[in-house]
Amino acid sequence: MKSLAIVGSQWGDEGKGKITDLLGQKCDLVVRYQGGNNAGHTIIVEGKKIVLHLIPSGILHPHCLSLIGHGVVFDPEAFLTELEEVCTNHLKVTPQNLMISESASVITHYNKLLDIQRESKGQVKIGTTGKGIGPTYEDKAGRRVIKVKDLFDLELLKSKLRYNIAEKAILFNYLYQIPFPAIEQEAKRLFELGQKIKPFVGDTFSTIDKAVHSGKKILFEGAQGVLLDVDYGTYPFVTSSNTSAGGIYTGAGLPGTHLSEVLGITKAYTTRVGEGPFPTELNNPLGEKIRTIGKEFGATTGRPRRCGWLDLPLLRYAVKASNITSLALTKCDILIEVDELKICTSYEYQGKTIDCAYPGIDLHKVIPIYKDLPNFKDDFKKDCLSRELENYIKVIELALKIPIGIVAFGPERHQIIFRKDYF
Ligand code: IMP
Repeated sequence: MKSLAIVGSQWGDEGKGKITDLLGQKCDLVVRYQGGNNAGHTIIVEGKKIVLHLIPSGILHPHCLSLIGHGVVFDPEAFLTELEEVCTNHLKVTPQNLMISESASVITHYNKLLDIQRESKGQVKIGTTGKGIGPTYEDKAGRRVIKVKDLFDLELLKSKLRYNIAEKAILFNYLYQIPFPAIEQEAKRLFELGQKIKPFVGDTFSTIDKAVHSGKKILFEGAQGVLLDVDYGTYPFVTSSNTSAGGIYTGAGLPGTHLSEVLGITKAYTTRVGEGPFPTELNNPLGEKIRTIGKEFGATTGRPRRCGWLDLPLLRYAVKASNITSLALTKCDILIEVDELKICTSYEYQGKTIDCAYPGIDLHKVIPIYKDLPNFKDDFKKDCLSRELENYIKVIELALKIPIGIVAFGPERHQIIFRKDYF
């Protein structure tokens, strides 16, 4: 296999970090193509926790080139803080192993302010991470965003910020009534940050193109999950990028034919952070138990995650929407602690039974239909799984018509079984 995409097949937080880390070891390039520092990829290396938000997990492997593609929204300040943290973990980061696209979109201070104000005072609460993701993608679609390469020209920065802030100033002054930094001040801040990141900035598109044509192994590292995709997800309770594999074609610059496989990461149950519908949510002590045992608290914001049973109609949809060719089932160890096991096989919706979600479905109105399954009590000490866990896997595979290639049962690198070869 030459190129693999790793995408979340639920609402994010599926445990992508660990799988990306393990498969990244075998790759020449690891590429982020969408989102920004709203992501939080937790990796445990020899008992030490490393959380990456913006820097691709290829950084953990010295031979890997990590790329931040042009589809990413890039906060230079957050990047430098993360860089410092990564370096204190004795990881070597140089322009030889990390490149940021000169065409990535910059998250300004105004965009962060706007995100936070909308969440605290706006009429619809999305439960965003407050990192300025949505407003920056709005600026990009509105053709006024600051690009990374603009950070190197102070005069250009000022004039772009002037144009960029003209409408926002009305929102800050009249709607939200908050002070905001003057253009000169923000331009200076961004320019200074730009000087610090300059050595890392380059043409990631051509780097990927050359890598493809010289037969290099590439891993595309998705952030969030398909159900948070701005087009496929549970709109408006989504993030503002294309989190599905489709985002790779536009956000990294890889034509579809070059993508060998898409690996969907799926928790053995479902979680969601932030607002929005969640058909299989367990709003009861069992949901709380799963949250506690599974340490289901956001890696970026620390917010408690909502927990529920695995939802096959949503997974089927994610598989179709992102052309997922195999799955990794993560956090199986958490379910050994619960005494019952259910899986949602279909929905009652508008007087019909349906087994697959679709864009625009009103998930507030679906009634989940569950199947009871024998629960599993594996201790994961051997390489083989219990009959009950094999049965759980079979039920999922038969429903989705794709194999589960990886079973993960803990945060450490060794707590994993590969049932399929990747690379
Ligand atoms: P934003 O991406 O900060 O605009 O947030 C939009 C929605 O996506 C909110 O519901 C967030 O909780 C959710 N979200 C964003 N990033 C992540 C993530 O990495 N994991 C899980 N949820 C996320």
